[in-house]
Amino acid sequence: MANENKLQDIIGHCKEYGYVFQSSEIYDGLSAVYDYGQYGAELKKNIRDYWWRSMTQMHDNIAGIDAAIFMHPTVWKASGHVDSFSDPMIDNKDSQKRYRVDHLIEGYAETLEKGTGDALIAKMEQLLADNNLTGIKELIEEHKISCAISGTCNWTDVRQFNLMFATQLGSVAEEANEIYLRPETAQGIFVNFLNVQKTGRMKIPFGIAQTGKAFRNEIVARGFIFRMREFEQMEMQFFVRPGTQKEWYDYWKEVRMKWHLSLGISAENFRFHDHIKLAHYADMACDIEYDFPMGFKEVEGVHSRTDFDLSRHQEFSGKKLTYFDTEINKHYVPYVIETSIGLDRTVMMVLSDAYKEEDLSTEEKKDSRVVLSLPPMLAPIKLAVLPLTKKDGLPELAKELIDECRPYFKCFYEEKDSIGKRYRRQDAIGTPFCITIDHQTKEDRTVTIRHRDSMTQERIPLDSVRALIVEKTKMF
Ligand code: GAP
Repeated sequence: MANENKLQDIIGHCKEYGYVFQSSEIYDGLSAVYDYGQYGAELKKNIRDYWWRSMTQMHDNIAGIDAAIFMHPTVWKASGHVDSFSDPMIDNKDSQKRYRVDHLIEGYAETLEKGTGDALIAKMEQLLADNNLTGIKELIEEHKISCAISGTCNWTDVRQFNLMFATQLGSVAEEANEIYLRPETAQGIFVNFLNVQKTGRMKIPFGIAQTGKAFRNEIVARGFIFRMREFEQMEMQFFVRPGTQKEWYDYWKEVRMKWHLSLGISAENFRFHDHIKLAHYADMACDIEYDFPMGFKEVEGVHSRTDFDLSRHQEFSGKKLTYFDTEINKHYVPYVIETSIGLDRTVMMVLSDAYKEEDLSTEEKKDSRVVLSLPPMLAPIKLAVLPLTKKDGLPELAKELIDECRPYFKCFYEEKDSIGKRYRRQDAIGTPFCITIDHQTKEDRTVTIRHRDSMTQERIPLDSVRALIVEKTKMF
């Protein structure tokens, strides 16, 4: 169920607590481009690390690489992006506003009764699958879908717009070569398939993983960091023997869903959505959808990409990209199962799931708090150390503890304001544990540990803190 208020609350919270800022905000921002602040950058890095380690460290047969953003322009001809990486758009002639047709129709369908809306979406999906752009325009006209700005139905024909950003390589205009900012990280893996297979002596089935920036000139970018023009992907291509792709496709669907559940998000907030309209490279594909504040939306794709990419690169480069399978004594172009997840979307999913406004009122007094119940392993700060007062040697003891813990995990020190206010600030940032150093600490070297989610407190030995937090925040 869409919850626009929750989305606005999360956006506001992210800005107030240093998670996400609009890019170039002092210049009124740049549409659909965002910067991560001090806590957002830590959260994003922790998610990236968790994904990277889940893929490369926890699997013997997956190697991680880091390919460049710029690639030879022919890569994008071979991959099909130059010809096919486009969205069907329609312009309103009165307002000059351009819409992605699926967003325009989906927006209208949401205003209808469920059954009627679903039937309209099904019809649209079929027309898009058939690439029937005339039919799409007729559907828009038949339902009298109007432009939100002009209020009219004065539409152009539906046209395809390519989503890649082009730029020039070389400083002299005549010598300049048009190249693209990569719209997906996957192609950097395909063109390195043989390099990794040979140097890593990899045997099929094996995977290559990488994380990195991708760029798409999204015409309609909306939903905060859900749809951006510059974003980060975490992709893994798994190379398999032809004919075994269904088995590996099912395997990776299951593994990836388990990964999402390992973030502590409940299963009812996820669902699979099988693609009706398959991308030009796929023979099976589905999305893992999460129930965002805007409703269920894609966070990750699992795609069976056949031998499309390697075969096309073989054709366009003239270089052989085959594998010799000693078990069956055969050369072949491997098939590929891809898992492709958006890092920014995962940040948004984790934040949406963690953000809670809690009413803590009692009969005596009204009270509430905002808490980010982030999985401890992902929290930007693992431990806040808070001396009860600024004197009597308590700050010194607190700093000693921080010095001991700092090499192991990220700590935060604060001595200003009441302890209650400091706890609430850490709740809002998502810090899972706070340690309070008080006068008793000086006598018996015990401290109070306060747990973010339950708000319970207990007395533990100062010397046990480091090992306890390491244990509670570990990834595996
Ligand atoms: N290599 C396959 C591929 O790129 P995709 O479904 O186009 O497939 C994969 O993208 C993932 O990348 C999506 O599931 C989504 O999480 C993320 N993604 C795609 N476009 C995005 C955008 N404009 N902003 C943020 N994330 C995006």
